[in-house]
Amino acid sequence: MTPTMVVLLVIFLLHNHAALASDPDPVQDFCIPNTEFSPTTCKNSSSATVEDFVFTGIKNPGKVGKSGFLAKPVTSIVFPGLNTLGMSFVRADFGAGGVNVPHFHPRATETAFVLEGKVYSGFVDSTNRVFAKVIEKGDLMVFPRGLVHFQMNVGDSTATILGSFNSQNPGLVRIPNAVFGSEIEEKLLEKAFGLSSKEIGKMRKRFLVPKS
Ligand SMILES: *[C@@H]1O[C@H](CO)[C@@H](O)[C@H](O)[C@H]1NC(C)=O
Repeated sequence: MTPTMVVLLVIFLLHNHAALASDPDPVQDFCIPNTEFSPTTCKNSSSATVEDFVFTGIKNPGKVGKSGFLAKPVTSIVFPGLNTLGMSFVRADFGAGGVNVPHFHPRATETAFVLEGKVYSGFVDSTNRVFAKVIEKGDLMVFPRGLVHFQMNVGDSTATILGSFNSQNPGLVRIPNAVFGSEIEEKLLEKAFGLSSKEIGKMRKRFLVPKS
């Protein structure tokens, strides 16, 4: 191989890698999964109806409960019409003081629009620099893909955020749950955070979701 060929091969491989980092391009107009037959295949498009392309599950605010926060993700899992289209959505409702804990989406950038309320909103980059401020009704913020971000309702009444993602299945990793709710060896957590076994136990109790 000549040096030029090697350079071209490297460029090709890097380019291919970048292309694989987002949802694949569709190869048909749409693909409603064929749930009865095989979810990885598409229903015959002649049997699709307008109802396949309408989702009615986020008309009303979620019941925020004790935590003061409830998100209703609208991914291709709950809205099959999104399948292969490389996008998804979320509605998030906050009671006064409600918090969306630090989390990230491994497969998508998110744009978050404030429909109602005042929300302290931000993200942390890979140098631990924080970009955060209070955003209000009508404002839009972007959270770059894979970066940790968070929100807290700082107004006196409820707040609502509408978010869009450039993946049909953005994924969600909540930092407290991933660290303290995942059965990582306790000794490691004690050393990593400089906490006692009792303190780690307390965090685990808070975030470990019992297996059902
Ligand atoms: C889809 O349905 C139409 C109408 O029933 C039929 O003519 C066509 O052959 C079907 N296509 C496939 C791939 O099954």
